[in-house]
Amino acid sequence: MVDQKTQFLSLLPGRPVPRIWFGAWAIGGWHWGGPNDTASQQALLHAFEQGITAVDTAPIYGFGHSETLIGKALRALPFDLRKQAFIATKFGLRWNGSGTPFFDTQHQGSSIHVTRNLSKVSILEECDASLRRLDIEAIDLYQVHWPEPGRPLEEVASAVETLLAQGKILAFGFCNWSVENLIDWNKISRFRPTAIQEKFSLLNRKIETGLLQYTVKHQIPVLAYGTMAQGLLAGAVPVERVFEASDGRSRSRAFESGMRMKIREALDSLTDIAEKYRCSAAELAVAFALCTAGISAALVGLRTLTQVDAINRAAQIPLEPGDYTRIRRTFEPLQFHGH
Ligand SMILES: NC(=O)c1ccc[n+]([C@@H]2O[C@H](COP(=O)([O-])OP(=O)(O)OC[C@H]3O[C@@H](n4cnc5c(N)ncnc54)[C@H](OP(=O)(O)O)[C@@H]3O)[C@@H](O)[C@H]2O)c1
Repeated sequence: MVDQKTQFLSLLPGRPVPRIWFGAWAIGGWHWGGPNDTASQQALLHAFEQGITAVDTAPIYGFGHSETLIGKALRALPFDLRKQAFIATKFGLRWNGSGTPFFDTQHQGSSIHVTRNLSKVSILEECDASLRRLDIEAIDLYQVHWPEPGRPLEEVASAVETLLAQGKILAFGFCNWSVENLIDWNKISRFRPTAIQEKFSLLNRKIETGLLQYTVKHQIPVLAYGTMAQGLLAGAVPVERVFEASDGRSRSRAFESGMRMKIREALDSLTDIAEKYRCSAAELAVAFALCTAGISAALVGLRTLTQVDAINRAAQIPLEPGDYTRIRRTFEPLQFHGH
């Protein structure tokens, strides 16, 4: 858990990690308007130099591209930085293969059919592919990306046990997992997840009504994604900003102009708090998540050097209780659980 003195998070023995992680979905390009590999490489290398040494990725992020770019960045790092790297990736989403249909998408002019697949055979195959792309010997944290309803959890447990025994993964976790999923897991496996990854932000505090209580009680670290609501809470989405068709935000209800205006107004009403802590809206949004009981780290979507510099301080902003409560109340009427 988080060491209050150093503000580092401990997930694996002797491997402290920062509370701000490099979220590597956007660098894969898919869903984010296409990749810019030069800027992504610079951002990754700069993040490591600045102490953001934990990276969260997934095979689906750019259909292998995000993992490949991270592998390249790791090779370019000096030895002392490379050994600090903490790499988390995921499994359970396949493209153009078998499994339970999830969604269809477009990527670089091709149609792609994405399925959920948590069969043991598929998990073992995916792990080898991720290790190859990342060019590492072991994955620090290997996470189920989404549950696959109807698939016996015993298959996942058996795959995870095999991979732990083989040393191909050092720990495992779950994303988008419910309390019921956790209880079911405990019935069939003696292995406990090292972390749980869930959506949490000022706009979406849904996990507070169940999952967070469970994880606090059972001392399971929660890694929060979506803390900036894909840029909305960072003040990065004025009404006039137009997203390319290949950027999923162009179709998201959360990005409709009415919502953008309400968020802008809410952020404007908190300017005095931002000034007090000398921070940006982006830092305030991430600091809010990190000051919430039970949230251990924020996985922040980064793809430029400037964004890395702009966010790194957020873990050192200790919001006073009164300010925390006011920020929270301001966004109470704007709770949004859709897409
Ligand atoms: N497990 C899961 O199912 C799951 C799902 C989603 C995400 N994640 C993880 O969480 C990470 C974060 O993704 P997210 O969707 O949650 O995005 P997010 O962190 O809420 O927002 C990221 C976006 O905000 C903008 N931004 C970044 N820094 C900024 C700054 N300093 N000032 C203003 N705007 C800034 C950027 O958009 P522009 O560059 O376009 O301005 C960036 O792409 C992902 O990379 C992934 O690792 C996991």
